[in-house]
Amino acid sequence: MNKIIVKIPGNTYPVIIGSGVFEKLSLYIEKERLNKNIFIVIDENVYSLFEERVNQFIVSTESKTYLYSFVANESNKSLSVLSDIHSALLNNGFGRDTLIIAIGGGITGDIASYAASTFMRGVQIVHIPTTLLAMVDSSVGGKTGINFGATKNSIGSFYQPRFVLTDVDFLSTLPKEEIICGIGEIIKYSLLANGMFLKNVKNNLPKIISLDKKLIKTVIKNCVEMKAGIVASDEKEERGLRKILNLGHTFAHSIEMEQKHKIKHGQAVIIGLACSIHLSNKLNILSDRLLAEYLSIIIKLSDLISVKKYNSSALIEIMKRDKKAESDKIKFVLLKEAGKIFVDMEAEQNDIDYAINNGFQYFFGTGKIYCSEKD
Ligand SMILES: NC(=O)c1ccc[n+]([C@@H]2O[C@H](COP(=O)([O-])OP(=O)(O)OC[C@H]3O[C@@H](n4cnc5c(N)ncnc54)[C@H](O)[C@@H]3O)[C@@H](O)[C@H]2O)c1
Repeated sequence: MNKIIVKIPGNTYPVIIGSGVFEKLSLYIEKERLNKNIFIVIDENVYSLFEERVNQFIVSTESKTYLYSFVANESNKSLSVLSDIHSALLNNGFGRDTLIIAIGGGITGDIASYAASTFMRGVQIVHIPTTLLAMVDSSVGGKTGINFGATKNSIGSFYQPRFVLTDVDFLSTLPKEEIICGIGEIIKYSLLANGMFLKNVKNNLPKIISLDKKLIKTVIKNCVEMKAGIVASDEKEERGLRKILNLGHTFAHSIEMEQKHKIKHGQAVIIGLACSIHLSNKLNILSDRLLAEYLSIIIKLSDLISVKKYNSSALIEIMKRDKKAESDKIKFVLLKEAGKIFVDMEAEQNDIDYAINNGFQYFFGTGKIYCSEKD
């Protein structure tokens, strides 16, 4: 078992990573002296796959426990599901002494923690991530939120959990395409880190994708340690450091919207990373040698993601509406080399267009070619 402490001033909490740790949930609740009135928000799929495990926890609890299950998809990361959660809390007599436990992937974690941050001006929340993406990224750092209209995560808050319990045994049922989504964020972390982590990911990609038990725990630990360090110094993305976590994400969020959520967040991150890498090279920040090296990792995933068509102008319009854009200026996170990141970078429309077309080429139709030409 690994324990990483996220040292956010005034909000320090542990992330426990291991196999079989879910069975110790009651003990951790006790140890952290959390509230005993428990409201579980769970992904319906996860509940059907792990009903016995979850029910065993419920019967072991001494006080009130309510289970709210929902279909975890982007359309349901919405005001109406949020309002449904609030209604279930109120109608079942929950008050300020509530502990919300989110069991599921990033969608469940994001909406449950936003519900926790807004119910009775804030009640306790614990995350139990069940996807690789949620384990390496979304369960840590306290970003909560829902989608609104055509915008992604545009309503939300920063709200830290009391602890995160990451049980890798939940990954045993995760479909391949969801594993790939987590791999997208892992590649992002490997590009943000020093060269060692990148080398490890590059050399062991097939083993990571096959969820090798020992390796996957180490990779999750590495990503969580990085994220913990970043959010501890810049919890609310005010000082620029946390912005580096958005590498590939300006493109990714608009890709998700433009593709009308037919593509998953993690898949969009992978295409977004390819676009960012091309943009970094087009703006002469990233060398041709590193462009080829970094793309060689991403291209290994290209057969697992396929886009039928895309509209570059629409993608750029959506980016302008992104919450990270300031007065119509799109801000990018760009890369000089692994660990050397530039934030708040702007680019001309034709360069963005170039990056989109070059980034999409590996995932689009049959033309999976790599082109290092800049024009
Ligand atoms: N808060 C943050 O910092 C942060 C960071 C990254 C992403 N996100 C958000 O996370 C969301 C994506 O999260 P995700 O990729 O975890 O998606 P998700 O929550 O939609 O889960 C993906 C799919 O996997 C299924 N699933 C979950 N656990 C499973 C398991 N153990 N076995 C089998 N199936 C399982 C779900 O039912 C769902 O169909 C996006 O909405 C994104 O915006 C948030």
